[in-house]
Amino acid sequence: MKYTLTVDLGTRSYPIYIGENLLANADFLIPHIAGKQVMIVSNTTVAPLYLQQVKALLGDFQVAETILPDGEEYKTLDILNQIYTQLLTQRFDRSCTLIALGGGVVGDMTGFAAATYQRGVNFIQIPTTLLSQVDSSVGGKTGVNHALGKNMMGAFYQPQAVIADTQTLNTLDDRQLSAGLAEVIKYGLINDLDFFAWLENNMSALLARDADILAYAIHRSCQDKAQVVAQDEREGGIRALLNLGHTFGHAIETGMGYGKWLHGEAVGAGMCLAAQLSYQLELMSENEVKRTIHLIQQAKLPIQAPKEMTTLDFLNLMAVDKKVVDQRMRFILMKGIGKAFISAEVTQEQLNTLFSIH
Ligand code: NAD
Ligand code: GLY
Repeated sequence: MKYTLTVDLGTRSYPIYIGENLLANADFLIPHIAGKQVMIVSNTTVAPLYLQQVKALLGDFQVAETILPDGEEYKTLDILNQIYTQLLTQRFDRSCTLIALGGGVVGDMTGFAAATYQRGVNFIQIPTTLLSQVDSSVGGKTGVNHALGKNMMGAFYQPQAVIADTQTLNTLDDRQLSAGLAEVIKYGLINDLDFFAWLENNMSALLARDADILAYAIHRSCQDKAQVVAQDEREGGIRALLNLGHTFGHAIETGMGYGKWLHGEAVGAGMCLAAQLSYQLELMSENEVKRTIHLIQQAKLPIQAPKEMTTLDFLNLMAVDKKVVDQRMRFILMKGIGKAFISAEVTQEQLNTLFSIH
């Protein structure tokens, strides 16, 4: 099963290709390369698996590579500098293309390097985790972490193309697959009740890595995300909905120390908290909260915040969330499955109650 979608952003529109064995075919990649110089950015885990395959498609280009250390804890300004150093050492000019080959960490860092190297060069996403295929490679959010907050330095910068080869998911471990499923479930919860119900019926097949079922879930997720991004590229409004579970999730990632909880795991627990808060505020029925938590649990994700974190830890960390406007925290809540909305009305007392009953 192969799918092609377009992220519709006028002159900056680009295709997303989804399917098995796309990396065996140069036609998905070559037309999107500008210039003769190509820098592939990957990491120490993904490069041994897929770098040669990608390089084999690039016979006519001057190809260089930057291999980063693997892990969320290396998504820093310091490590980012390795990409600029390689580009300068290899005398890459403004007409070059960067290729991100890896998960969301490599994708976000490569995108930020592309946005900033000589004020902006071409880049292509080749996401190799489920999470990056359904979320991070699409929509142009790029950046790195700060010790005090997730993704605090970054840029909106769109790729030329996204090539999601589902074959690469076969080497992903089960924990990472589940982390990706958190972002898939997110789309159902935000505005796609039919997809949520489909996920309830197909979770076992997804966990068993049925190729067609995975490709469909990736396609549907990208379709949902592309629609939101096309309407609100720079998150002036509805794009914030894509952060369902992330206010809590980012606090968990930062609070526990980057890399301890996977991003998707933190989002899984964060979506349970968002559902419970919605129930507490009498927005969502008990049955819908149960369905939400059950599906997240079925995906083998955590459904509770880490015991090590106190309410105060959460409040302090959430206060630096990027959705904070005029010092007011904003939460993505649900009026039901598939009916997410942005609320700036949540009070400190309500949060205290949420954490005390959780
Ligand atoms: P990741 O990039 O750390 O990848 C997870 C692990 O899988 C890593 O160890 C990686 O080396 C390994 N890996 C990657 N592909 C593999 C493969 N095919 N086979 C075997 N191992 C493989 O994590 P992730 O979950 O892909 O992405 C999380 C990051 O994405 C976070 O930093 C998060 O903030 C970011 N993110 C960004 C956006 C966005 O819109 N830009 C959206 C969601 C998440
Ligand atoms: N992952 C949230 C967004 O792309 O906006």
